[in-house]
Amino acid sequence: MAEKILETRHIVKQFPKVLANDDINITLYKGEILCLLGENGAGKSTLMNVLYGLYKQTAGEIFLGGKPVEFSSPRDAIDNGLGMVHQHFMLVETLTVTENIILGSEPGKGPQIDYRTARKQVMELSSRHGLKIDPDEKIMNLSVGLQQRVEILKALYRKARILILDEPTAVLTPQEVEELFTVIKGLRDSGVSIIIITHKLDEVKAISSRVYILRRGRIEGERNTADVSKADLANLMVGRSVVLTVEHTDHQVQSEPVFQIEDLVVRDDRHVAALNGLSLDVRPGEVVGIAGVDGNGQSELAEAIMGLRGVERGVMRHHGEDIAGLSTRERIDRRISYVPADRHRFGLVLPFSVAENIAIGYHDRPPNSRAAGWALDYRAMEARAGELIDDFDIRTSGPRASAGTLSGGNQQKVILAREFTRNPDFLLVSQPTRGLDVGAIEYIHSQILAMRDRDVGVLLISLELEEVFTLANRILVLYEGEIVKELVTKDTDEREVGLYMTGGKERTA
Ligand SMILES: Nc1ncnc2c1ncn2[C@@H]1O[C@H](COP(=O)(O)OP(=O)(O)O)[C@@H](O)[C@H]1O
Ligand SMILES: [Mg+2]
Repeated sequence: MAEKILETRHIVKQFPKVLANDDINITLYKGEILCLLGENGAGKSTLMNVLYGLYKQTAGEIFLGGKPVEFSSPRDAIDNGLGMVHQHFMLVETLTVTENIILGSEPGKGPQIDYRTARKQVMELSSRHGLKIDPDEKIMNLSVGLQQRVEILKALYRKARILILDEPTAVLTPQEVEELFTVIKGLRDSGVSIIIITHKLDEVKAISSRVYILRRGRIEGERNTADVSKADLANLMVGRSVVLTVEHTDHQVQSEPVFQIEDLVVRDDRHVAALNGLSLDVRPGEVVGIAGVDGNGQSELAEAIMGLRGVERGVMRHHGEDIAGLSTRERIDRRISYVPADRHRFGLVLPFSVAENIAIGYHDRPPNSRAAGWALDYRAMEARAGELIDDFDIRTSGPRASAGTLSGGNQQKVILAREFTRNPDFLLVSQPTRGLDVGAIEYIHSQILAMRDRDVGVLLISLELEEVFTLANRILVLYEGEIVKELVTKDTDEREVGLYMTGGKERTA
């Protein structure tokens, strides 16, 4: 029997309004890779933050090497051999890799930091664990994948024997995920015990030997990864059976594009060219997917299409007519619908009711208003909202509930209800399922495909490659503001797309 290195007994964490962890018992064995699988809000990060001394548990005990421990801070946890890489990195942008790694545990005495010694140790660690990095580069010049390496090195520098990674792959390309998994397996072989938090079933299968499934703060099951199917894991995670893959049905794509972009140049907020002569077209009845690593021009593209950002050069055509001079409002009136990546900034007004949010943009015309926009017809607005609440399966107490009281998935359904029922012929959807759980994702995907089947042209911008593959007929890879490759979904795979996402070159540190 393997040695128990870490154990929780009856951990409870009560937040003022949420019971985030409810009687959690888990065990970590020495030298294993353990996954903690659960949907958004299941309580995974909370449990890890309790282990790491960031939160104090409401009840329950933690045992390290068989002995009860109480960590009053991450410092305590680190001193006891725990390391954690958070979902959001905690590095100092303006400092170098080496400075970040040694921050808080500098070698040498007193304030005099021996940078040369530290740098040597960092390079030694980095080559030992295959975590290639330039020790003198500033954090702000590193890709997210490389920043993650710095976080891992930081934990190893502090001699972590237990490493916790919270959703480590969310920000990585497929190639980077593969590299990370190789590193993690190497760490396991050198005796480090690892907990990986994820909501992705593929990852559980690819990396772990054992998995706990967490739902609504409780452990729903424990499985040996080799003995459990993805479908079973999904069912445990969601609490009902879910359809994992949308059936790739064929739909007749029309030949005349509904939307075209030619040679678009757009600058970002710092006046740097974010789009560099981008061209694309979308035809009725197809989903065109934009794949790419975050920050390659995705948000600027969406904003330019909707008239929320100025265009320096280029043409945008809707049904062959130039729309560059039109306001956002005029574009929407032309039957262009938009599901924005940031639900709270552009999509919803949280203090407003569900009915009001569904009417936004339409509040000044029938059926929502009488007398040419002067009197809001609340009865009609609420009746319509009631129908859409049913149609789109929005879980809420009713049309009058404020949008802010809904879960993320249901907020997104409110936006879909509004945008999809405007009778659009061109639909721009940006990261439609970010942060949502499997059940909501399944529903939203089916709705997007239903729009396609009604001959709407759909442009999908997504950082989730899996989503692009599920929905798109064609994939355009966006890299540094340009479409560097066009691929037909059924003739390619995530590896190939991932390669173009990093500029078509193998990544070098
Ligand atoms: N600091 C906090 N204060 C209050 N509620 C919190 C806090 N952190 C998390 N929660 C709530 O606890 C629940 C579990 O959250 P979390 O552990 O972050 O889930 P996961 O990591 O599985 O997505 C959620 O309902 C979340 O809103
Ligand atoms: Mg989390």
